[in-house]
Amino acid sequence: MSNDHQSRIRHYPTGWFAVAFSSDVEPGALVPLRYFGRELVLFRTGSGKACVADAYCPHMGAHLGKGGTVQGETIRCPFHGWKFSENGQCIDAPCRELTPKAHLSMWPVIEQNHIILVWHDALNRVPKWQVPLHPEPPVPQFAKRILLSGVRTQVRDVFENIVDFEHFHVVHGTNPVHANKVQVDPLFPHQLSVLASTLGNDSPYDFEMNAMLIGPGHGKAEGAAWGYPEYRAHNTFYATPIDEDTLDIRSVCRLLVDEFDSDALDSLSIVAATACENVRHQLEADIVIWENKRREHGPGSPRYAGTYIADFRKWYETFHPDNAAT
Ligand code: FES
Ligand SMILES: [Fe+2]
Repeated sequence: MSNDHQSRIRHYPTGWFAVAFSSDVEPGALVPLRYFGRELVLFRTGSGKACVADAYCPHMGAHLGKGGTVQGETIRCPFHGWKFSENGQCIDAPCRELTPKAHLSMWPVIEQNHIILVWHDALNRVPKWQVPLHPEPPVPQFAKRILLSGVRTQVRDVFENIVDFEHFHVVHGTNPVHANKVQVDPLFPHQLSVLASTLGNDSPYDFEMNAMLIGPGHGKAEGAAWGYPEYRAHNTFYATPIDEDTLDIRSVCRLLVDEFDSDALDSLSIVAATACENVRHQLEADIVIWENKRREHGPGSPRYAGTYIADFRKWYETFHPDNAAT
């Protein structure tokens, strides 16, 4: 096994990872991306299907994200004009009598809840699970988005945060948090559910959190809107490695309101926006710690024995493709 292959196995787990918000790419547009240490291109066909491909053309290696174009349901290379269908097949090559048997490498894509995700597996296996649909608020104004680019940490740190109950009090200023339950879903072992709360529930420093990690790059948390304990929020989090040292974090913060007066639209929109900004500030507080801490590979040391950190790391290890459980 080459060093490069071993490196990919060690650092990039298997699962679904967000690469863009849906609004980042209009029909007929393309966007160059860099994730998993690779050059990629995201494009949306004329009929609206989001596709992600390796950026380098299989003919002579032109970068499709730099001057390539979307034509109908195809992507066209900027160098010799070969066109590839949404499944990667070359279907047209100007100046050739026969269409070459060339194939552009495509990534499995899911687009739902206004997010575009790709399935990454260093061993190129097919997706093993689907991402659940999340509830959407009654109006789009109650859903706010966050993108934090180029964060210098490991993806595992982002999601370990949610079972590291001792840091909430210190980093986020909550009252001390108690874990009620952390468990792998017996039916869906790629899901880890987390229930945690502070002792009270009546101040901005108290909360109850019902969270779920869905594979190695995605999680959701339901509970009081940050800063507004009287409102419920549903927040989703996505972290995607750019390379071995950096990642992008996306989050969607949704204010869940069953019924509301149309008069309250503006004020509730402000609540949603402020709660989202509070989530951003809390993420930024985490990031200062993550970017400056010592990196820890592997399942962890005896220091974590018997803690939720140990349970989490054991679960997270199952997403590494050198582990038979994936
Ligand atoms: S390099 Fe893409 S068509 Fe030649
Ligand atoms: Fe945190």
